[in-house]
Amino acid sequence: MKKYSKVLALVLMVILVVPMMFGCGSKPAETSGDGGTEKMEKFVIGISLPTQREERWVKDKEAMEKYAAELGYEVKVQIADADQAQQAQQVENLLTQGIDVLILAPHDASASAELVKKAKEENVPVISYDRLVTSSEDLDYYLSFDNEAVGRLQGDYFTKNVENGTIMLFAGAPTDNNAKLFFNGAMSVIQPKIDSGDYTVIGGTDFQQVATDNWVPANAQNRASNILTANADATVAGVLAPNDGTAGGIIEAFKAAGLDVPVVTGQDSEVAAVKRIKIGEQSMTIFKDTRALAKAAIDMAVSLSNGEEIEANGAVDNGVKEVKSVLLEPVVVTQDNFQEVLVDSGYINEDDLK
Ligand code: BGC
Repeated sequence: MKKYSKVLALVLMVILVVPMMFGCGSKPAETSGDGGTEKMEKFVIGISLPTQREERWVKDKEAMEKYAAELGYEVKVQIADADQAQQAQQVENLLTQGIDVLILAPHDASASAELVKKAKEENVPVISYDRLVTSSEDLDYYLSFDNEAVGRLQGDYFTKNVENGTIMLFAGAPTDNNAKLFFNGAMSVIQPKIDSGDYTVIGGTDFQQVATDNWVPANAQNRASNILTANADATVAGVLAPNDGTAGGIIEAFKAAGLDVPVVTGQDSEVAAVKRIKIGEQSMTIFKDTRALAKAAIDMAVSLSNGEEIEANGAVDNGVKEVKSVLLEPVVVTQDNFQEVLVDSGYINEDDLK
């Protein structure tokens, strides 16, 4: 009997105590970072995303979850359906549940300053993910792509492929700081050709006038249809569309009006857009590798919590401060290189393009 109880005690120790020593099998139980007191506690990353409407945000979420799981970190993800009140509540929930760091892609750039402040009050550092939180003194880092470069690449493609003629301009959501950066970048190339008289713009050139509320493709489609109806005599040579979703809506408007689809730009490398590029319906898109962004975000979250130095490659003005930033490179995708850039890299499955 005595022998058996010894064996039982040993077995119990192996079952109960050993996993505790190794953080219940999940790697790694982080230290609290409080100057070396090795208080073991689970490291939790809070992630607040604005939407899953565009395919890219689904990929961001999946990639962050996958990479964090590989490293053994717990993530708590909340998705706001393009609704600021919902995102505010979700961030509060995350802070109440207890997170060590917050990765925040804001729906509303300036309203989200309040959310960063709340996190700061709880000593939770915040990384602005893909979209910048504006008017916030408290923001720790910004991780995104070079968004003005995204716009410039769209503008470069546009001016190289539309020599002259009538054009239409679209921008993204006014609540999203990226939308302004994309538009400013594109207009830095397009505006000189408007000024020189090469381009005649129908439907307006002012950001607020050409913006698309909430990035909703149907809003862009309606605006495109209205402009086409109001300018029935015009032959449109090109349309600056800020992303693939809106490009899809705009292309539908041309088709519904029985018109040839002109040069149309885009961004995100969505499957539907690449299919359109394949058949020549959409002219280009931009590849922003969300796998790389997601990985960088998790790595940055861990470094930030550990008080480690993060190597920034830029600083972006958020209205009240220069936010230390890590900005990744966007890539132009056309019929010529989608196979190599998107399919061969495993970002898109070849079968999905059939
Ligand atoms: C992102 C784009 C996306 C858009 C709509 C922007 O902030 O950078 O990739 O298409 O939001 O979700």
